This record gives sequence, C-alpha cells and structure tokens, in this order.
Amino acid sequence: MPNPSPIGVFDSGVGGLSILKAIRQQLPLEKLIYVADQAHVPYGPRPLEEVRRFSEGITRFLLAQGAKLIVVACNTASAAALHYLRESFPGVPFVGMEPALKPAAEHTRSGVVGVLATPATFQGALYASVIERFASGVTVLQDTCPGLVEEIEAGRAQGETTYRILQRALAPMLSAGIDTVVLGCTHYPLVIERIAEIAGAGVRIIDPAPAIARQTRRLLEQGELLREGKRPGRITLYTTGDPAALAGRLPALWGEPEPGGLPDGLPDGLPVSYARWSGERLRPHDTSTPV
Ligand code: DGL
Repeated sequence: MPNPSPIGVFDSGVGGLSILKAIRQQLPLEKLIYVADQAHVPYGPRPLEEVRRFSEGITRFLLAQGAKLIVVACNTASAAALHYLRESFPGVPFVGMEPALKPAAEHTRSGVVGVLATPATFQGALYASVIERFASGVTVLQDTCPGLVEEIEAGRAQGETTYRILQRALAPMLSAGIDTVVLGCTHYPLVIERIAEIAGAGVRIIDPAPAIARQTRRLLEQGELLREGKRPGRITLYTTGDPAALAGRLPALWGEPEPGGLPDGLPDGLPVSYARWSGERLRPHDTSTPV
C-alpha cells in the first residue's frame, strides 16, 4: 500500500540538511518535514539527558504532523536518544546515525583513521559499541572540533575560524598517518571541501549521507510505505529559531538546484516552505534556553 505521509527528519540545526538532501535525491516523491532545533544548537556540549529530552519533543511533534518514519539526522541526538526513541515509540521506524567506522576500518590501508564528532557523540554508549564492533586492529584518533558547529550555523563555513579549527584537528591526525576521515557529525559534510583541502588527495573522507538515504529507502520499501505519484513531494522546514534566516541560507546550504528541475511543469527549484515551531513540547523540560 503506498503511503502519502511525510518522512520526518531532525537535527540541532542545519547539519541534517546534508542528510535531507541525500534523501531527496534518492526519494524525490516523498514529502519531507525537517526540524532544525536552532534554539538549542549546539547539542554537542550538552548532557546526553538534555539532548534526549529535546529529541523526544521533536519526535512527538513530527509524529503529530503525520510522519511515517523518522530520520534522526544528527549523530549527537542518535547517541543520546536513538535507543530510547525506539523503545518509547515501538510502532515507528527510526533511522539513526553512528560514526561510519565500519567502512573506514574496512578500507584503511595505513590502519589509522580519524573521527570528527561532537563531545556528546564520543561519550555515548553507541560510539563505544561502534569502536568495539568495528575498530579492532585500527588506531582511531578523535577530535571534537570545538566551535565548528557554531561557525557553520552562523554561515561562516568558508571563514578563517572554520579553517583554523579544522587545521588544528587534522594536523596531528595527518602526522599520525590517517588515510581516512569519518564525518561523525552531520554538520561536517557542509565543510567537506575544506576538510579535503587540508587533508589532501590521499585521504578518503566518509560522508554517511548516501548510506542513510539508502537505509531510509530500504525501511520504506520493507514497510510498503513509499509514496507514489508524479510530483515531487513538498519539503517543509521548521526551525525553533528564525525561519527567515534559514530561508536565506538554504540556497548556499543546498548547493545546486534539483537535478533536472521538476518534471511536471512546476517552477524550477525546491518546493520548500518554512515555518517556525515554537518548540512548546520541549519547554516543560528545558531549563537552559527559553524558546
Ligand atoms: N549535527 C549534529 C551531529 O550530527 C549536532 C551538532 C551539534 O549541535 O553540536 O552531531
């Protein structure tokens, strides 16, 4: 049975757009609802418990919008909440993120791999289990890139500070002989060119977005949940921050327009609408930032 309901996707901010774009490319007919919790970004330095509460609130909001599947397009939220969300909402299919150490460990020739992710991601049980399952026999070097998410959120991906943060993180890894870098935070594919520039041609960079989109497709196929139709599905972007600011940044974040434009005579470009969600369901628990 085709299912016209939307896919829900969320992140602390604009990082999950790297995942949303990959989903859009693989599943153009699907309606997508994205929540950027920009009132609370960055998630990375927060306690896991707090990120779990935000993630639960956003999940409830997405389900209230009719989401048929939820993609936790944030490594930090996955580390903090994925297990809890699956237990709390047993009927709902979730796709979550874990740093892609499996392909990194399979492909490294030098046996030294770098992982860039947030402090919360490195602290979570999910990361410990990924290391245990996939990284035996491989040296894994980690860095939390302090301040990088904030630079990307502020639209300074091309700025001097971004470059300095990446240079500081990657230099010791390169000296130690890494040949692979895992992007363990969904904000980081938005600076992949800068990472490549610093790391050089001999280093492979693993961006998890295409694999997450494939997993989303697989779950929809298995559950017979795909949407049918001729028109590309609408994309609705919610933010707990400023929708006008998000709208202004989207063209730069999204990059090139949709491949081939839209097939049925709709105007070229993304069928996107913006809205502010006050995050009211986050409020009762939230003591840090009033929304
Ligand atoms: N994009 C997120 C991640 O994948 C969170 C970054 C942050 O808010 O600190 O981890």
